[in-house]
Amino acid sequence: MRLFGRTMTAAAALVMTTSISFAEDVEVLHWWTSGGEAAALNVLKDNLAGAGTGWVDMPVAGGGGEAAMTALRARVTAGDAPTAVQMLGFDILDWAGEGALADLTATATAEGWDKVVPAALQGFSTSDGKWVAAPVNVHSTNWVWINKAALDATGLAAPTTWDELVAVLDKMKEAGITPLGHGGQPWQEATVFDGVVLGMGGDLYKKAFIDLDPAALGGPEMAEAFNRLIKLLTYVDDNFSGRDWNLASAMVINGEAGMQMMGDWAKGEFLKAGKVPGTDFVCIRFPGTQGSVTFNSDQFAMFNQADPAAQEAQVAMAKAIMDPAFQSAFNVVKGSVPARTDVPNDAFDDCGKKGMADLAEASTAGTLFGSMAHGHAAPAAVKNATYDVITAAFNGEYADGAAAAAALAEAVAAAQ
Ligand code: BGC
Repeated sequence: MRLFGRTMTAAAALVMTTSISFAEDVEVLHWWTSGGEAAALNVLKDNLAGAGTGWVDMPVAGGGGEAAMTALRARVTAGDAPTAVQMLGFDILDWAGEGALADLTATATAEGWDKVVPAALQGFSTSDGKWVAAPVNVHSTNWVWINKAALDATGLAAPTTWDELVAVLDKMKEAGITPLGHGGQPWQEATVFDGVVLGMGGDLYKKAFIDLDPAALGGPEMAEAFNRLIKLLTYVDDNFSGRDWNLASAMVINGEAGMQMMGDWAKGEFLKAGKVPGTDFVCIRFPGTQGSVTFNSDQFAMFNQADPAAQEAQVAMAKAIMDPAFQSAFNVVKGSVPARTDVPNDAFDDCGKKGMADLAEASTAGTLFGSMAHGHAAPAAVKNATYDVITAAFNGEYADGAAAAAALAEAVAAAQ
């Protein structure tokens, strides 16, 4: 407050400080509450603080963000939308369609976002030709995280096919550890299923989850995918039901479980625990999916605000998110890769470098698909219907894979 000289009273200074910091705050709704996620969130908070923007935290725990989206709906309905919201794929487009999102086009144009954000992401950052969200990363779901010592103990190489995967899981079971660290929540089972279906081929994945083709959803290949999913249930421990994803990661980190099938946010947990890729853990693409990527991108959508200072804070946040140096620093910690194509890979570990190379390769080859489990393949109603059938199948509620596939085709048709 030196600027105002000695004539300013303490009370006036307080009012000034309060109103300035209030006006420049962003209130951010997000679901980054695990250890690794919180570490990444701090990189973002610090970056914003450096740009003079304060942070009001609105965390809503729950992997995949379903609970966060429910909380968001309640806030908007009450006429009290947060400033900025972590959001995935089709949810962004839905809110944009409702006219709830601020237009970031002027900032995007001035900063040339269209030249550096991959087209697949722009499909979810823009609506009706306007930028409505700033992408902070690209995650992908077709990964498996393996405890290195547990893998070495099997005497087998990291699996590249379904049969090799089953052989490794069987050996781990014989060795007396839980082969698959898993949390029994619908979104986690759906995340595993992204990899299982992609392992049956990109064609099946695209036809079923993106084109919503009834024949692919209910056909023999999908039946086989469900049989594989049902088989995976035989490798989880008795307490899997309801477990949070980061606790399943911790089982692999501690050597209690052999592997976890999870998006690359899991790597954030390994890093937070001081584990090193290649030494303590191994990252592989879900067996049979090398060359293809099922992606999801966390983007920040800005909800319409009447206050010009709040609008300025939104622009400041959007710019800070899109800064290339920030995208490197943040994604190194988060486990994801940058949402810009011009960020060097130097700071990334081997799994991060692989993630960046795989993304570029899949994008060129036409084998980059939106993640069904994480809202980038179909709108929420279809996603939720898909979750229900997958979870029921995993928990043995259908006679076999064919019955599950028939139920999936029916559920998806009803949800559209
Ligand atoms: C988000 C990640 C998050 C994960 C688990 C995903 O949907 O994209 O950022 O870490 O859910 O919470």
